[in-house]
Amino acid sequence: MAGAQRQRAGGAGAGPGARLERRGPRPRPALDAERFALRRTRLHLGAPEGAAYLGFGEKVGPLDKRGQHLTFWNTDCFPHHLETDPLYVSIPFTTVLQGGRAHGLFLDESWRLEADVARTHPEELRFASAGPELDLYVIAGPRPADVLRRYADLTGTAPMPPLWALGAAQSRWGYRTEGDLRAVIAGYRERGLPLDSVYVDIDYMDAYKVWTVNRANFPDLRALVKEAAGQGVKLVPIVDPGVKVEAGYEVYEEAVRGDHLVRTARGEVLVGEVWPDPAVFPDFTRPEVVAWWAGHHRLFAEAGIQGQWNDMNEPACFSLRQPQPTEGKTLPYDARHGTRTHLEVHNAYANGMNEASRAGYARFSPGIRPWILTRAGYAGIQRSAAVWTGDNAASWGHLALSLPMLGGLGLSGVPFVGADVGGFGGDSTGELLVRWYQAALGYTFVRNHAALGTADQEPWRFGEPYTALVGAALERRYRLLPHLYTLAHAATRTGLPLLRPLALHFPGDEDALREEGQYLLGEGLLVAPVLRGGVRRRQVYLPAGRWAEVFNLGRFGAIHEGEQYVTAQAPLDTLPLYLRAGEALALTQGAPHTTTARWADLTWLVHAGPHGFVGQLYEDGGDGPVRGRLTRLLGERHGAQVLIRREVEGENFPEPRVSLRVAGLGHVRRVDGAVNYTYEDGVLTLTLPARWSALTLELDEEEDSGPDPDTLEVEDR
Ligand code: GLC
Repeated sequence: MAGAQRQRAGGAGAGPGARLERRGPRPRPALDAERFALRRTRLHLGAPEGAAYLGFGEKVGPLDKRGQHLTFWNTDCFPHHLETDPLYVSIPFTTVLQGGRAHGLFLDESWRLEADVARTHPEELRFASAGPELDLYVIAGPRPADVLRRYADLTGTAPMPPLWALGAAQSRWGYRTEGDLRAVIAGYRERGLPLDSVYVDIDYMDAYKVWTVNRANFPDLRALVKEAAGQGVKLVPIVDPGVKVEAGYEVYEEAVRGDHLVRTARGEVLVGEVWPDPAVFPDFTRPEVVAWWAGHHRLFAEAGIQGQWNDMNEPACFSLRQPQPTEGKTLPYDARHGTRTHLEVHNAYANGMNEASRAGYARFSPGIRPWILTRAGYAGIQRSAAVWTGDNAASWGHLALSLPMLGGLGLSGVPFVGADVGGFGGDSTGELLVRWYQAALGYTFVRNHAALGTADQEPWRFGEPYTALVGAALERRYRLLPHLYTLAHAATRTGLPLLRPLALHFPGDEDALREEGQYLLGEGLLVAPVLRGGVRRRQVYLPAGRWAEVFNLGRFGAIHEGEQYVTAQAPLDTLPLYLRAGEALALTQGAPHTTTARWADLTWLVHAGPHGFVGQLYEDGGDGPVRGRLTRLLGERHGAQVLIRREVEGENFPEPRVSLRVAGLGHVRRVDGAVNYTYEDGVLTLTLPARWSALTLELDEEEDSGPDPDTLEVEDR
């Protein structure tokens, strides 16, 4: 795939391909790593047999990193492969799972670091750092969720995203003019496909000069932002850290005057090449540089922009003016950041850049929740940005890889994550795109993005039935927004991600740990997408409990006992989903774009367990201050009676129209407190009065009341 991509790009001559070609391997002097004592400080810990090591940041490969040698050195690699290490984000934090119990290890070192996870020495976890000391935190469990919560207490929680960021997003490296952006928005609207944002890649700039806009192609940014907003669409421009060297270019001149730039070991300003060539690099490790960069966000904030995409912040550098050895396409180990070397701060470079973005929007647009997306980062990055997994490829392998990769990031304290839907490098296909949108139900954001020179992959590019099937996947996503938004809100408090590997809630279950092609969205919704071409059914592992089929978030299907594999029939229009007994899931109706998270219509999809059920909902304005209302829907079962009520906390605003669809009850004899109800095929459908407080159901005693309660222990949300 990678080779094919490069070849095709090369074949494209002086056009887009030429630019892709620039990012291929270039001759560089060999790196004499020993000169830098990369393994200066070592720590060896026991790695008991059977212990699994989850997390460790943005890594490919299986969720359990046991048996791998990992390097922590943020790296731009295009394209990455299924075994590439390291990638763009370094987080030396792992959750160790042993016999169903968890504890965490966090080595808080931004220095270049290696971890040998029981690979060379099968009973040892070995760390080797280029730094002079090691700060190790051992984090108590006993559950993985406890470890994540404590890690968030230590490194910070993510701020609440605006609702629009959770809606559909379209992007492409190659949208060059405002006409291109208009056409994309029109493409969605004409086909009735939902869309909330368009990401704007590097061509909006004037000659790749950061904080400039090419006025020929984008004559009036502010007017364009307003026009898009009129159609319910936000524009999210890209920002790269490299500053073009050009006399008279204000940003460059300021950077030099203010001494804001990274220097060489000899003390000169370090000059390299990114999209701008030559380019210099702001030193985001220094607060005054962060403050200076934050000031430049005025350009976007005043144009009404509310989201930003911070790229190339490993930092990526394709070549150096004075060629020197480097590890990957970045700056040399001995480059200077004030008194510190690049070897020490490289991994944390992006954190400063993203903090500047937060500070910038806080200063110039205090009323909004900015959405900041980053490619690179170090532990704590969740405080300032969401992460996307960089330059993946349009292949089934990359689709499958995205789940353990995003799951692993979530277990590394980064709750808001996504991968390029459809694949960045290479040409997508209709079937791959449909399956990718289905699988992305639980990505925090769903952004279709593609590289320059690849085939167009907007949802309609492959004709029918693919356009309609992508549309159905997007509609499903919008229907699930009340649940996704509630999970996002929970993440800001607990550190728990939206997309959760099964092991997070079933830590003692070996099958759950190894099953990486499915995930949980919250605790009770299990998503089992098809991840291979031509495949129309799949095996699904159901952990302990009882699980109701809710394929496509539609009708209830069969109910299965857990701790077994079942076969899901999944033709191209089907996303297998399962709701655990005891869970209630808040849904709304599809919409062309988001508006507010005070839903006008709510349907609770409920799978009642032997004791009842519980569901959570967080509602607010969808942007601005995070002051909202938290609702707990509770169903308590006492023998043949179920009492349904709600607990509400927080703001008071208009009530939605509420209905319930409940499975798993057995036969319902009577309902008190509903406007109307039907009971068909074991599913009770109820409409509630506007200001409802409680509701009672009478059941037939003799009906099966569900599985053994012991299997239904529900964890903290
Ligand atoms: C990097 C980004 C990619 C972007 C491209 C051009 O490769 O990862 O998403 O499209 O640069 O800006």
